[in-house]
Amino acid sequence: MSHEEFPTDNPAVVTVGLPYANGDLHVGHLRGYVTGDTVARSLRRVGQQTAFVCGSDMHGTPIAVNAAEAGVSPEEFALEYHEEYAATFPKFNVEFDNYGHTHDETNVETTREFVRSWIDDDHVFEKEIQVAYDPEADQWLPDRLVEGTCPYCGEHARGDECDEGCQRHLEPGEVEDPVSTLTGNAAEYRERDHKFLRLSDFQEYLQGFIDRVEGTDNAKNQPREWIEGELQDLCITRDMDWGIDYPGEGGDAAGGDDLVLYVWVDAPIEYVSSTKQYTERVGSEEYDWEDVWTVEDESELTGDDTGEIVHVIGRDIIQHHAVFWPAMLRGAGYNEPRAILATGFVGIDGKALSTSRNRAVWADEYLDEGFHPDLFRYYIVNGSGLETDVDFSWDRFAERVNGELVGNLGNFCYRSLLFAHRNYDGTPDTDVSASVRERIEEAVEAFETALNDYRIRDVGATAIELADFGNEYIQRNEPWKLVDDDPAEAAQVIRDCVQLAKACAVLMQPVMPEKAADLWTQLGEDGSVHATELADALAAPPAEFGEPTELFAGIEDERIAELNAKLQERVEEATEDADFEPEPLADDRIGVEDFEDLDLRVGRIEAAEPVEESDKLARLEVDIGVERRQVVAGIKQLHDLDDLPGTRVVLLANMEKAELFGVESNGMVLAAGEEADLLTTHGDVPLGSKIR
Ligand code: 2FM
Ligand code: ZN
Repeated sequence: MSHEEFPTDNPAVVTVGLPYANGDLHVGHLRGYVTGDTVARSLRRVGQQTAFVCGSDMHGTPIAVNAAEAGVSPEEFALEYHEEYAATFPKFNVEFDNYGHTHDETNVETTREFVRSWIDDDHVFEKEIQVAYDPEADQWLPDRLVEGTCPYCGEHARGDECDEGCQRHLEPGEVEDPVSTLTGNAAEYRERDHKFLRLSDFQEYLQGFIDRVEGTDNAKNQPREWIEGELQDLCITRDMDWGIDYPGEGGDAAGGDDLVLYVWVDAPIEYVSSTKQYTERVGSEEYDWEDVWTVEDESELTGDDTGEIVHVIGRDIIQHHAVFWPAMLRGAGYNEPRAILATGFVGIDGKALSTSRNRAVWADEYLDEGFHPDLFRYYIVNGSGLETDVDFSWDRFAERVNGELVGNLGNFCYRSLLFAHRNYDGTPDTDVSASVRERIEEAVEAFETALNDYRIRDVGATAIELADFGNEYIQRNEPWKLVDDDPAEAAQVIRDCVQLAKACAVLMQPVMPEKAADLWTQLGEDGSVHATELADALAAPPAEFGEPTELFAGIEDERIAELNAKLQERVEEATEDADFEPEPLADDRIGVEDFEDLDLRVGRIEAAEPVEESDKLARLEVDIGVERRQVVAGIKQLHDLDDLPGTRVVLLANMEKAELFGVESNGMVLAAGEEADLLTTHGDVPLGSKIR
């Protein structure tokens, strides 16, 4: 079924994926929060009642490990980052209505209620599974404490996620050849009882959900494959101290160890808890979290009586939000998300940002350089479509600021208001012309349509396009000449321009709230631009206003050169191999016959193209003399695929066939290191030569 267009009569909630309270924020993190804030503000702009909530993700293995290294408790460690985040977001004009955290009382209680409800409805069962164990450290190895090989694509993977390959969520016990990240030793698999949420109970429901859910194409399409295959049940407990205790029977498992809930259980529930906290603060008359999240009657789920839940996330956590989370909600009798918007990543020079390697532009650093937060917001929201991976570049940042903000929007508003102030002390006393009124109405409509299609970049573009029209309009009509020759016509042109500037303020507010407020004040408006709605774009501006100031300042080339040099140096340091530690050599020797079991052949890549649905995978055609093979390799982001044809490679020809994202992989191309450096031949032996 298709949903009613925004605005609806029901309240909405916009959430953003919770940041792990585990390190400083960089521009990559900010993309999601700025996008979420823009979505929430845009919804309010069209008259949709909207709460914008989030919180810090306090649990999970990395936080426990980092806290131990820092010699503090996980709670103390995570709270410090939580406070840092809560202080940083407003500096980027990201204004949450509530920002909680997953370890607070509300979330602990709400999480327990969810789990009890699954237990009561028989969606939870216990099963003995293999869990990685480090005998030297004498401890279980949940999630990030173990690494190994992904059983689905053969890439190196973390315990709960194939982050370098097919991006699947991995269940405990799935990773092959497990190695403890605590000691670097091979881990053992030992038997252990754990609790599972029976996802298969929700298979049919999820198939319907994925047809209904709105949002970006990646979030609507990628989950189909996971939902259509047999749904693997979700292990919801972990052998750790840090987390929320499993609330049902068996929380105190054999051996006296407590089971805590998997971090991905209590994390999304914080979306509900944070909304609850907002209601507690403002009162249910003003905003009732239950109208959004709870369902009294199942038929309401896809009907008109429930709230509108919009999740903004990074594209790496689509499975959690489009498969696990709707099942979790459904199992506890809650409403389902209306839309999931999954943003692309931010990189530098085509590579991922890295907190540990200092390969990033940090949130605080951006502000310390003296740049206004709204410039970053504009750059990140309007620089690309939501789903696209982008590279942060100071050059492109300056290009957009100087071209679109200073040269277009800022220039139009300044010249119009200055002329109006000098010649009429404010808005000329006449009505806006029909043609300009129509142009503003078109912009308003474009805003509404783009928002309903979740094209957030296009929402932000409406103000810029209107300013572009305004610049062309003023240039064509030359009011500076008309003032003497045809004063009435001059007044009309400037009246129109002031109206266009006012409309720009209304339309730009979701992306550049502070700059919109500046412009609003310059227009002599009394109230707050944040309290306006789209219709105000056509309300008459005040008769009087003072001398305007430039909204945006240009960025000099020298400044950009300095910033580029600084970033370049950092990227080089991060790329150096100084901290590279080779893995220990294998203990076991193999005989020549074992080696000969590997049918390694010289090949040449003939074609290379991305596997559309996957972030990392590419489809290669490799000529190995005897035949041409199709191989799927995790190199999409690591190589320029157009450059690959003609490259000689080494192919493991008798690798078992596998199917990845629906594409058959018949062989494995050998590569080394984090950048997937492809193994090649020094000379030009014929294709198909066996490697001995
Ligand atoms: O991937 C992450 O960074 C998680 N902290 C996101 C959690 S989002 C949610 F569902 F809670
Ligand atoms: Zn994989």
